[in-house]
Parts: sequence; C-alpha cells; structure tokens
Amino acid sequence: MNPILDAIEVDEIRDDFPILQQKVHGKPLIYFDNAATSQKPRAVIEALNDFYVHYNANVHRGIHALAERATKEYERARERCARFINAESPESVIFTRGTTESINLVAYSWARNNLKKGDEILITWMEHHSNTVPWYQVCEHTGAVIKRIGLNPDGTLKLDDLDKLITDRTKLVAVTQVSNVLGTINPIRLIADAAHRKGALILVDGAQSVPHMAVDVQALGCDFFAFSGHKMCGPTASGVLWGKRNLLEAMPPFLGGGEMIREVWPDHAVYNDLPYKFEAGTPNIAESIGLGVAADYLTRIGLDRIREHEKEITRYALARLEEFSDIVVYGPRDIEQRAGLVAFTVGDIHPHDLATFLDQEGVAIRAGHHCTMPLHKKLGITATARASFYLYNTQDEVDVFIEALRKAKKFFGACPTGRELGY
Ligand SMILES: Cc1ncc(COP(=O)(O)O)c(C=O)c1O
Repeated sequence: MNPILDAIEVDEIRDDFPILQQKVHGKPLIYFDNAATSQKPRAVIEALNDFYVHYNANVHRGIHALAERATKEYERARERCARFINAESPESVIFTRGTTESINLVAYSWARNNLKKGDEILITWMEHHSNTVPWYQVCEHTGAVIKRIGLNPDGTLKLDDLDKLITDRTKLVAVTQVSNVLGTINPIRLIADAAHRKGALILVDGAQSVPHMAVDVQALGCDFFAFSGHKMCGPTASGVLWGKRNLLEAMPPFLGGGEMIREVWPDHAVYNDLPYKFEAGTPNIAESIGLGVAADYLTRIGLDRIREHEKEITRYALARLEEFSDIVVYGPRDIEQRAGLVAFTVGDIHPHDLATFLDQEGVAIRAGHHCTMPLHKKLGITATARASFYLYNTQDEVDVFIEALRKAKKFFGACPTGRELGY
C-alpha cells in the first residue's frame, strides 16, 4: 500500500529494475541500502549496452560515424544533467566519477589556490568523509583551519549563531544538503545567503539529495554543487560537479592531459574552454551517457512524487520502529526535515550483527560509521544500522524488515550481552 505512487505504479516501477526480482538466501530481496548505491533501471542498463554494442568510440576526437555519435550522446547527457539540476548552461556541468571527485576538484583547483594561513573552512558535524578529508588536506597544504556548525539534539544544524560562525576569515562553507546518517535536510539557501553576506563561497554535497528530491542549483544559491550518478539510478563512476561559470572559468585545471588543452607548445599549454578544461583524458563516456538516461528516468516519474513516496515510507518505518522499546533512532522526527533514510541502534545488538542477521532474511541494510566517523564520535557511538529507501520500496517491505528485526532481537536476546558476561 503506497498512497503516493500507488501499488500498481510501484509494481510497474519495480518491473523496471531486474535486480529486484531475485531472492537472496531464499527470501525475496528487500533492498534498503539505497543511500550506499541505488539499483539501476532497465533504461540505464540498456543505454550502457547500446553504447558498447553500437557506438563505442572516443569522444571529441574522431571524425568517423561512431565517434560522432558517441560525442553527440555524451553531450546530450550533459544537457540532460544540466536540466535535471536547473544549471544555467551545460558548460557549467563537469562530468566526474562522483561526489568525491567533484569535491576534490574544487579542493585542488579552487581551494588550494585561494586559501592561505588563518583562513577558515566551515563544515558541519554531519559531513561525509568526502566532504571532510579534502578540506583537511587543503588545511595541511595552506594553513587554513576547519570550523564546524554544531548539531541540535534532534540532529538538525545549530544555525542560530551562523552569522557569528561565518567570519571575515571564512572562505568556504562546505555542507551536505542531506545527511547520509541523520537524514537531516539542511536549509541550503539560508546558509548560502549567510556565507555570501561575508564574502565566502558555498559548496553543497548533493549526494543524498539529488536522487530523492527536485534540486535547483540556482534557487539554492550555491557556488558549487556535487553529486554522484550511482545513487540516482545511474552507473557507478558517474557524477557531476556544477559550478558558477565565472568561478570555473577562473580556476586552473585539476588534471592535465589530453582533451583539457586547446594547444600544447614545446614549453607550455593553452587550456581548453569549459567544461573540457576539467575533463582530462578519455572520460567515463558510457557512464555519463547512462547518468543522463537516469536523470530523464527520474524526471519522467517526477522528483516531487518520489519525495512524497519516500516521506510516506519513512513516516511508516519511524512509527513501526517505535514498537521496539530499546531502539534509538537518529535524526529529526519531523518528516519535512528528514529524507528517506533511518539510522538506528537496537539495544546492545551490534549493527554489524543486525545487518548480517537481516541479510539472512533477504533484507539488505548498511551498518557501520557510514563514512561519518566525526559524527559518530560526536554522538558517542561507533556504529549505526541504516535502512534507506527509494522509489521502488514499499510499506510491505518495511513490515518484513520490522519482523526481521523482531526475530533478530529474539535471537540476540537469547545470547548473554557483553555487559552480562562482565566485559
Ligand atoms: C552525503 C554523501 N556525500 C558524499 C558521498 C560520496 O559519494 P561517492 O562515493 O559516490 O563519491 C556519499 C556516499 O555515500 C554521501 O552519502
């Protein structure tokens, strides 16, 4: 039962995803690990197949028919991605291998060249390592320092003192739009306006937002926006960095090599225009084409409907999880401030044990620190279990998940805990 994408539509959507039809350990697969990577619809799989079967060639170089078709499809994918995030022009969309590479591009090309000792980079406690470690590296290189926006007890950002936290020394605010652990949806426009008032730039990590809600980079008011294709029904090793054109134009290339140059002389090179300046070497052609197809697939279904669907499932999952007296759920309870994922712990059961048990029931969830070790340290825990939902998940699957949790509790409840054993 799904009030937004009704049962028939979800059935139709599920038919688009061949991988969901299988059994795991003899049980129908319930895939609740979408925040790690999503499954791929037939349209995307077929686009990859079509490329390799019919027009595999390098882009922007050949003059033959295959090369022309590959170039046309690759650039069409860029236009599709630009439309998907409402970029003002396809030239400001740079294909990367994903969020991590997109953020590193900005760290290497912009931050290392614009920051100096004493400058500040403001991040949050809920950032993924890929929006943390590149900034640590920038600080090691330039002498800049990291500051963090704090957390409220409900897992939202503490923004009351934002105008004080952003100082004249703040050069960059790097923040996720959606936390991959707390599920918190951050008010990017508000943060962007505060950053700009002090002359700082803002980079937004869109890895967990772009797949699940309509994103308009211009309305968000950000300067850079990074996302991954594989979390939004696209292929692995696909992704985008969007940046304001004037910033990208002023930035030096990230990597040197073929394709990113206009001319190479015996002693120097003249760099290519956007976006090619940032796409050195043979790019991820098939993957980027697949990403464009994924963007169109999600647009056809409707990002607003996907968001509503996930809200319903998350609301339901949160309510059912409350049936367990010893459950701890992290992140905001207000569904308007929370995306479609739930990180939790149950009593003394280690999240890895829980995930292993659930796997035997056909339910795929994630356990661990989810690449957010500082956040877990801040919360005083080492690991959480996480169920993350997508357009093809159903409330019936949540019921199976809850029953599997109940079984797990019974199983592990029968074992003495470490505390009971005295260690
Ligand atoms: C919030 C967030 N940012 C960044 C990333 C990194 O994405 P990728 O591994 O695709 O580069 C992830 C992946 O889980 C994420 O959840």
